[in-house]
This record gives sequence, structure tokens and C-alpha cells, in this order.
Amino acid sequence: MLQAAWPPFPHTQKPFFFPSAAIFLPGVYVTSISTTQELSKTCPLMNGSGGGSQDSTWVLPNLPSKCTWTATTPASKSPHSCVPLTEEKKILPNILKKIGCTPMVRINKIGKSYGLKCELLAKCEYFNAGGSVKDRISLRMVEDAERAGIIKPGDTLIEPTSGNTGIGLALVAALKGYRCIIVLPEKMSMEKVDILKALGVEIVRTPCTRFDAPESNIRVAWKLKSEIPNSHILDQVKAVPPLTPFPKRVYRVSRCLGVHMVVIGSGTGGTITGVARKLKEKCPECKVIGVDPDGSIVALPSELNRTNTTTIEVEGIGHDFIPTVLDRSVVDQWYKSNDRDSFLMSRRLIREEGLLCGGSSGSAMSVAVRAAKDLKEGQRLSCFLPCFPASGWELPWPSVVGVKPRWWNIK
Ligand code: HEM
Repeated sequence: MLQAAWPPFPHTQKPFFFPSAAIFLPGVYVTSISTTQELSKTCPLMNGSGGGSQDSTWVLPNLPSKCTWTATTPASKSPHSCVPLTEEKKILPNILKKIGCTPMVRINKIGKSYGLKCELLAKCEYFNAGGSVKDRISLRMVEDAERAGIIKPGDTLIEPTSGNTGIGLALVAALKGYRCIIVLPEKMSMEKVDILKALGVEIVRTPCTRFDAPESNIRVAWKLKSEIPNSHILDQVKAVPPLTPFPKRVYRVSRCLGVHMVVIGSGTGGTITGVARKLKEKCPECKVIGVDPDGSIVALPSELNRTNTTTIEVEGIGHDFIPTVLDRSVVDQWYKSNDRDSFLMSRRLIREEGLLCGGSSGSAMSVAVRAAKDLKEGQRLSCFLPCFPASGWELPWPSVVGVKPRWWNIK
């Protein structure tokens, strides 16, 4: 039974950028799907059966989590693998060793302009090898599955994603020798598509629709999996986030340097859940702020989600379902973000602080400057900047939109 979702269309309906027929490139192709019927006709990855709404082959991304974690359960009781931090060497054996250990950078001008008393810090996840926080989960998912004997080089990895997990997986797949198919909603930027193509990925584009619609990127991915031999969906909405390097650094900093608040956007919810759980175990005094965009239903209390907004231009955060991996009980407070403040803030982060980050980083920082009003002098806030500007280096506005919004020139 599919769960009802609201709002009906959480993302902008954009015109397609690829013709419905598949475009073949040497070793790489991009396919665009607009309807279920088209799926079987246009997608060369399909066996001709289409993505019928009757199929029971897909795994719902919003099933209740089976995880039994509590803040007081000892780590020794965890069934999840733990990968220890390794010292960074001068010559890295390969680029995958450049995932994790991202820098924490002081924000110098923006906090002052808001009259904030506390110190603002940015956790710059775009320094990961593939340019986003999602490199962490991508590497973790592949290596966990390899250790468990589920996948082996030569197999096909399929993932429905808003792009960054796709880039992370593509990077890992390129190095380790997997075929990679990324199922990407149409709203996601051309920059991401270009990077995916460069990494040799096969891309299937799907309409921006409800998560449970037959032509949604999640269901198309499961349909592909049912048709392609030796293919796997590692499934980022159910995977255990890479807990060791990332939170360890945060709580190490939190204890030694006194971080009183962290601000993190929620996409799959893996990052915020993993970080918040470790903070609850190691330094529960640190407040965890979740960021959810207008038009999404993830924030609590749910009255916060009431809005007339039915489109989200910022990529990678917000959902019309509650992902399995997201544990909302460990988030102390939710704030809503909006597109306008997000893109303006990401532009300021680039131009004033030199931080080459994307729209969802602007969402997090636009909330951080509001939440930081509760902090006093001598206290610290760490805001997570998840990725590089996938939507235009100079102007952090999705280049796919084609027109500039009316607030474009607002200083
Ligand atoms: C799944 C226990 C820490 C995320 C599970 C499962 C158990 C478990 C028993 C079900 C495994 C199965 O179905 O085979 C624990 C314990 C922990 C712990 C005892 C700590 C002492 C964490 C942490 C996270 C996490 C810190 C971070 C987000 C998950 C996820 C799943 C899972 C995403 C898969 C959920 C699903 O498919 O339903 N855990 N866990 N766990 N755990 Fe944990």
C-alpha cells in the first residue's frame, strides 16, 4: 500500500532538456522519461516492460527504521561496521582517500553583518573528492556491500539521487570498476549531469513528481534493477551513514573548542541523523538544528510545513516523505528555509567568504544566522556546507531555469 504524500508536486515542473528518445554518446548516454509508457519505449536500459504502477518490486523509501539505537546504548552493541580514521598521507594511494576530514572554516563577514555575538564556523564538505558530503555515504555503501560480499567489480550500481550521491558513486565506481546508472529528476542542474557524464555514468532523467509515482526516480531505479542482471541499489535512504570520521571530528571540536550549535540541512537525513546521534552520545549539550525547505514535509512540529509553496529550486534537501534513515527525535529544533534566502546567502558565501558552495549550503547558512541569535559571545556555531555550486559557479542560481528570479539583483 503506497503512503499518501503531500504536497502533490514538491518540485518545480521544468521542461525537459533532453529529447524523449535516448541520446547515445560513446560509452555514455542520457535518457529522459516523461511518462510511464515512455519508459519502456525510450529507455534502452529497460527490457520493454515499462514502469507499470502495478510493480511490487520497489522498496519504499519511508519504511520505519529497524534501527534500535539509543543515546545510552554502548557502541560495542552496534551491529554496524566502524571504519577508523586514518592519518592523511602526503601522497594518497588514490582519490578516494580524499573523502572525509573536511576543513572547518571561520566565517568572518556574514556573522558581523547580522550583528551576531557568537562565532560562526562552516564545515566545508565540498572539499570531498567529488565535491560533496555525499562522497562519504557513497564510499561507505560500496565498501560495506563489498565487505558483505553483496557486490563485486563488474556489477551494476543503480541509484536514484538528486545528483551528489550519484557523483560520489560514480567516482567510487570509476575507481573500483563498476558500471553505474544514475536516475536523476529533471530539476537537477546541468553541471551535475556534465560531471556524471565525464565520470562515464549512464543517466536516466525522470520527471519531478511524487516519490511514489511510477515514473519517479526511485521507482524507475527499482524497475531498472529488476531488469538488469547483477545490478544493485545500495539505497542511500536506508544505508547507515559513515559515522566515524565525520561526527568524531565534530564532537572532538565540540568538546575542545566548545561548539554549542550545529546547523545541518536534511535531504535523505543521513548526515543530520548520524551527526546528531553521535552528538547526543558524546556531548548532548550541543544543540542540533535541522533545516528543511518550504514545500517539504520533514520539519517538526508539522505546522511548520504549512505553506503555499509547491516548488523547491534548491537541490538535495526536502522531501514529500520521511526517509527511513532520518531520525527526527535527535534534532532539537527545525527551521524552514526558502529559495530566495538560500540562493542569496550562497552567493554571499562565495563572494564575501570565498566559499565555493551551492544552494543548499545557502539554505543552511541562512538558517544559521537566524538560529545564532540565541547564542552568546564566546559560543560557537558550526554550519554544514554540503556541496559545491552545482548550479553555476559565478551565480548560484540554477542555470536550468533560464530566467532570473525577480529578486536576482537584490543586494
Ligand atoms: C539498522 C542497531 C547505531 C542507522 C539497525 C538494525 C539494528 C541497529 C539492530 C537493524 C539491522 C537489520 O535489520 O538487520 C543499532 C545499534 C546502534 C546503532 C545497537 C548503536 C549502539 C546507529 C547509528 C545510525 C544507525 C548511530 C546512524 C544514523 C541505522 C540505519 C539502519 C540501521 C540507517 C537501517 C534501517 C532500516 O533498514 O530499517 N541498527 N544501530 N544506527 N541503523 Fe542502527
